[in-house]
Amino acid sequence: MKALIPAAGMGTRFLPNTIAVPKEMLPVADKPGIQYIVEEGLASGADEVVIINSREKKAIEDHFTPHPELVAHLRAKGKDALADAVEHAGSLPVSYVYQEEALGLGHAVRCGAEKTGDEPFFVLLGDVIVPDNQMLIRMRAVSEEHGGASVIAVMPVPQEEVNRFGIIAGEEVTPTVWRINALVEKPPVDEAPSNLAIFGRYLLSPRVMELLENAQPGAGGEIQLTDALDAVLREEEMYALVIDPTEGYDVGTIESWHEANVAMMARRK
Ligand code: UTP
Repeated sequence: MKALIPAAGMGTRFLPNTIAVPKEMLPVADKPGIQYIVEEGLASGADEVVIINSREKKAIEDHFTPHPELVAHLRAKGKDALADAVEHAGSLPVSYVYQEEALGLGHAVRCGAEKTGDEPFFVLLGDVIVPDNQMLIRMRAVSEEHGGASVIAVMPVPQEEVNRFGIIAGEEVTPTVWRINALVEKPPVDEAPSNLAIFGRYLLSPRVMELLENAQPGAGGEIQLTDALDAVLREEEMYALVIDPTEGYDVGTIESWHEANVAMMARRK
């Protein structure tokens, strides 16, 4: 199974920070956000972690390249902990495919089709971090219990904030697993079918990749992953794993990125 990490977006919500620095390279406590995500992909049991990158965002690739001179310099100065950290980043096995134009998340995922073939695959959004690396393993267990169905992670959000998220409709199977009937993008607060928001971790059936092939631009003129998930729901079962709000952090807006840094610094202590 492959783990796809879409990281080719333009990061407009972070401008001017992201003129020269990719959003995914911004630090979250000790390391760039994308390093947490690559490590999570490697811990999931996936046999390959693939970053879907933009050709403008070479800094991501530089980060995961060995830097022997820097390591030697640090070792000569006795800075072994830093040398280890640099060496570790350069040793993480990761491959790349390119999204030539930021046409939306669904389009980015579709760029990974040559890698996933006809197997299920993970998608790890490049602007959500899960530092304990356990979520994908639990999602895979839910999928196996339900005949290989797609599974998406959802996080409870305050009812008055549901209009900011993609929200699921469905029924509870166990306290942490729901069977999904529909996905509703940013519903009005008084019409939301639940307060469970799509979080940014997906285990998807190969049918999703097929549906993305013919996907048309939706909201904002972008090819949306949610539209393909909606389409697959008409053909296949899909489940949600309900996660705890302390299990993962959104780092996709300046505010949430600051909050994630505070939380991760507190964990470090
Ligand atoms: P976002 O929509 O949060 O990222 O996509 P963005 O487009 O970079 O952000 P803004 O809205 O301009 O501020 C979630 C993830 O999907 C990737 C992004 O890099 C991010 O990690 N993405 C998004 C792509 O790879 N390609 C796209 O066309 C869009």
